[in-house]
Amino acid sequence: MGAVWERIEGCAAAIRRHTDFQPEAALVLGSGLGGFGDLLRTEAAVGYGEIAGFPTSTVPGHAGQFLFGYVENRPVVVMQGRIHYYEGYSMEDVVLPIRVMGALGAKELLLTNAAGGVDRGLAPGDLMLLTGQITSFVPSPLIGPNQEELGPRFPDMTEVYSLRLRGRARDAAERLGIPLKEGVYLQTTGPNYETPPEIQMFSLLGASAVGMSTACEAMAARHMGMEVCGISCITNMAAGISERPLSHAEVQEAADKASGNFQRLVWEYLRQA
Ligand code: HPA
Repeated sequence: MGAVWERIEGCAAAIRRHTDFQPEAALVLGSGLGGFGDLLRTEAAVGYGEIAGFPTSTVPGHAGQFLFGYVENRPVVVMQGRIHYYEGYSMEDVVLPIRVMGALGAKELLLTNAAGGVDRGLAPGDLMLLTGQITSFVPSPLIGPNQEELGPRFPDMTEVYSLRLRGRARDAAERLGIPLKEGVYLQTTGPNYETPPEIQMFSLLGASAVGMSTACEAMAARHMGMEVCGISCITNMAAGISERPLSHAEVQEAADKASGNFQRLVWEYLRQA
């Protein structure tokens, strides 16, 4: 058995000692969606600290727990507090929670995040459905001995973000009358924001938005056959596009401002099977 797979199974078993909840879908809460947990009809909560060998988030405002509960009648597992590569964790640690949620039975994954707008057609407060991603600026989470229990050595990444789930997100946005932009997400390591020349390069490469998470998670989920959807909240225009310097406080504030629509969209999306 692969060592990583053994670790995933160990974490899943630790969670199973707290709850036998069977999630259909998994959700990762990004900035601005922290309040989503309050909407959930929660059956169980398991803190990352209660799972032996589990990484814990060091970012302020990220609680660090799994919530198990219902969005109407749909059983979901929610990651409240994600692990970021810039915290110093290995990519294996960063994607571990995603793989554990998959091992617990979640077939679908919705990833949310805050991102900087690279495409000038975006504006702060916009919600953007991910149509593709550029992961070339961060190490692959699949480096190392392949875990055959999860997926193949050389997995296809043609359709990281499921066409079917993108359709579901578009339908949900349309029903609510919430505008939903679309674009390509590029992941950097962070923790620094980018320089204006970097943003210019990312624009030339085809990126619509830039952030410090998500793409590696989507890759690990696809590797194990989960169906993935992603939505970014554009909290700021990226460096050099906006003339103002970037600050975490401003990003947080913009995320909080957009949280009402973001939460409604995610709820509407998740409540459908
Ligand atoms: N760059 C990287 N990550 C981000 C940004 C940004 O401009 N905004 C929110 N997350």
